[in-house]
Amino acid sequence: MPGPLTVVQHPLLQHKLALMRDVNTGPKEFRELAAEVTLLLAYEAMRDLETEPVTLRTPITEGEFPMLAGKKLAVIAILRAGLVMSDSILRLVPAARVGHVGLYRDPQTLQPVAYYSKLPQDIAERRVFLLDPMLATGGSAVAAIDTLKEAGAHNIKLLSILSVPEGVGRVHGTHPDVEIVTAALDEGLNDHGYIVPGLGDAGDRIYGTK
Ligand code: PRP
Ligand code: URA
Repeated sequence: MPGPLTVVQHPLLQHKLALMRDVNTGPKEFRELAAEVTLLLAYEAMRDLETEPVTLRTPITEGEFPMLAGKKLAVIAILRAGLVMSDSILRLVPAARVGHVGLYRDPQTLQPVAYYSKLPQDIAERRVFLLDPMLATGGSAVAAIDTLKEAGAHNIKLLSILSVPEGVGRVHGTHPDVEIVTAALDEGLNDHGYIVPGLGDAGDRIYGTK
């Protein structure tokens, strides 16, 4: 049974994603666009955060107004491309705790290789937003979610800028409880495991390493 998937169709987001895809967009602009797209994805992904009424005084009168309540948040970046997303999302939710999972995809086997993990100690009590711009084979996302669940996390959403059906299917095949929030579902993967039409290698485009 497939799990929850939200493809955010907002024109602003689609416009910025098209600019990210453009091969002529350099690292500085690419990073800025990735950060902006993340804010728009987070806006959607955090739609169900609980609020509670808080009494306060405006310059005009006193009233009750909704403020965030309920479970605390954790944002987890999959290194290295997810870093630009965690930096961005912290502007929206500065009190969130931040974790990092270090994974890279072996270029030959396309299997994820884990090299680092540092997570908030109380992750089991937090709503977790896992961040990685690319959901391709889904190997990296599944490995990261495995790590989060082993640490006790059970309320996880995956924010991915670009996804393909293969990756979505792989994540939901293993973790049907994890909602995926993405800006686009592309056609598929090429022989090297890159998303088509895609945007290339996200890490290289963010950091200008190729
Ligand atoms: C990229 C991307 C994802 C992964 C997606 O990372 O940021 O983590 O590939 O591919 P998958 O769904 O097939 O696992 P990469 O391995 O290039 O590492 P990097 O972020 O350090 O560049
Ligand atoms: N990782 C990337 O950075 N880009 C892809 O297209 C697939 C995996």
